[in-house]
Amino acid sequence: MRIVKNIDEVRRQVKEWRAQGLTIGLVPTMGYLHEGHASLIDASHRDNDRTVVSDFVNPMQFGPSEDLESYPRDIERDSHLVEAHGGDIIFAPEPEEMYRKGFSSFVDMTVLTEELCGLSRPVHFRGVCTVVSKLFNIVQPDCAYFGKKDAQQLAVIRHLADDLNMDIKIIGCPIVREVDGLAKSSRNTYLSGAERKASLVLSQAIALGTAMVRKGEKNCSVIISAMKKHIEAEPLASTDYVKIVDCDTMQQISTLDRPAICAIAVYIGSTRLIDNFFTEDV
Ligand code: PAF
Repeated sequence: MRIVKNIDEVRRQVKEWRAQGLTIGLVPTMGYLHEGHASLIDASHRDNDRTVVSDFVNPMQFGPSEDLESYPRDIERDSHLVEAHGGDIIFAPEPEEMYRKGFSSFVDMTVLTEELCGLSRPVHFRGVCTVVSKLFNIVQPDCAYFGKKDAQQLAVIRHLADDLNMDIKIIGCPIVREVDGLAKSSRNTYLSGAERKASLVLSQAIALGTAMVRKGEKNCSVIISAMKKHIEAEPLASTDYVKIVDCDTMQQISTLDRPAICAIAVYIGSTRLIDNFFTEDV
């Protein structure tokens, strides 16, 4: 396993693998890897001959008042995890390598990015779509792996690959949780002891919503109100959104009459955490 910082070097390696008839999986990440990322690397290792893990905190997807500077980074630790899970290369470019002087091309998406995180984080998906397109062009993988925790991101990337005729299979992998239910996230490291306890309202609200759907509740506002009430009973929590959207369009729906995602974003102190469930998985 090696760490490559340079785009040309990754391209050279990928060409060599292709010449040998090998298949390639890509796991895009922003580093500070945890078991959620490990499950994506495992899936890629299982499905492909070679796995590239990108490790790049993408400045373009952070808003001006977001956590770009404080986002946790530890490439040494990441390299051990990637190696242990069968990754072959970590692609860890500097921002200047990804966005060379004079960079001025962007990939943007309408409709799917108008709701949920797209509303609260206006520049976010333009940054995600641009960097993921670049990574797809650099690595040209057969398959790319994304976590279902970022459900909107997964839908956006599926749509992007389809709209732009990218010959890449997009694979969504299940959310990995801590034993007490909190969805794994690099941002969980920001939480103080009290906040870590309070953060359980997210997975509890998800469990509550899931149980209501399982019992047959179809009225979205009834489900949303119950989940919000649960979250808002926690003094350290403040709701950014609790919404139910169509799986494909990411537009809000009022009745559960098609495959949908119930997605939540909650501030615990100043840390914004997300979680969700897919009604198809209930
Ligand atoms: O999910 C992430 O970590 C990032 O949004 C991604 C897909 C690696 C793009 O920077």
